[in-house]
Amino acid sequence: MPLRVAIVARLAEEDWALLRQVPGVELVDLSDWAWADAAARQEGDPCVRQELARRLEDVAVALLMGPGQPLLAHAPALRWVQLPFVGLEQLAGTPVRERGILVTNARGLNARSVAEWGLTLMLALAKQLPHYLRQQASQRWEPRQAPTLSGMTVGLVGLGAIGGELARFASALGLRVIAIRRSGPQPPPAGVSWVGGPGDLPRLLAEADWVVLAVPATAETHRLIGAEQLHQMKPTAWLVNLARGALVDEAALVTALREGWIAGAALDVFEQEPLPAASPLWQLENVIITPHVAGTSPGYFHQVVALFCENLRRYLAGEPLLNRCDLERGY
Ligand SMILES: NC(=O)c1ccc[n+]([C@@H]2O[C@H](COP(=O)([O-])OP(=O)(O)OC[C@H]3O[C@@H](n4cnc5c(N)ncnc54)[C@H](OP(=O)(O)O)[C@@H]3O)[C@@H](O)[C@H]2O)c1
Repeated sequence: MPLRVAIVARLAEEDWALLRQVPGVELVDLSDWAWADAAARQEGDPCVRQELARRLEDVAVALLMGPGQPLLAHAPALRWVQLPFVGLEQLAGTPVRERGILVTNARGLNARSVAEWGLTLMLALAKQLPHYLRQQASQRWEPRQAPTLSGMTVGLVGLGAIGGELARFASALGLRVIAIRRSGPQPPPAGVSWVGGPGDLPRLLAEADWVVLAVPATAETHRLIGAEQLHQMKPTAWLVNLARGALVDEAALVTALREGWIAGAALDVFEQEPLPAASPLWQLENVIITPHVAGTSPGYFHQVVALFCENLRRYLAGEPLLNRCDLERGY
């Protein structure tokens, strides 16, 4: 009997073609469930629920680009979920752990994009690009001095796929790189001065000119950066959040930015997305805001499908899956 695999994702025809080439698999097209709003609209309708349950019968595997709840509720035979992104937010509140369902993510596929975005934001802040864009809009000519990154210290909170890429970029530019990771102090990789554990966060904050967040949102990292940590940063330091809004106490950050506890921030992610119009962050001149785009690049979903195909092959062959998440630790 073929493995029934639900595709809860809107894919290009070439990606469907790639999936059809995997032997021993029967694809179930659930692309109409790939977006949270559609799923929420339809979930209330008993006929839709019945239809979903029928289509998900005997489905053992899913590529999931929508919310996890409807999928898990209607797929009793589900054994493995492949996520198209790194964070596990889609599965929040679902009994994946209780049901012993394997979860794999897309760790590493967009690490280069996110690290490039981090570097872009750092250079833009150091070179005062927001100031010049404001000048350009009003045809003003007011030169300022700008430092080089070389010789500054970047503190990476997280040294995984993204942190590792950024460490290489930063080191190549002559920055001193320091980092912390959950697994604790370890011999630093090339170009990194020291690697500590979560307990070394105060030391990292005190030493860094740039604090870059590249950790997952978990119970341990929730509001990792609050008023106390912002006070521990140098008044000349910058905060760059490439990871998740939940890592930062946004109200404390606004105060820190207004009162000059730190020099400024570049934020790709927020507590609430899209960032509400009423957020004071929009008005601050020492902030760069980007709309959660660090990880997006053309061809990304093609890479996700290629990873999924390789994992399908491994699953059918009984081999370990790539990018298996540890649901206990939350990433
Ligand atoms: N803005 C975007 O578009 C975008 C795109 C992709 C990802 N992200 C976010 O970025 C996060 C990181 O992605 P990644 O691919 O680098 O993930 P990853 O490879 O899994 O790396 C995560 C890193 O965080 C560390 N970590 C976890 N908990 C920690 C804690 N409590 N204290 C200190 N370090 C901790 C891990 O430590 P160990 O090395 O010891 O495991 C690891 O070094 C993702 O979870 C996602 O939320 C954002």
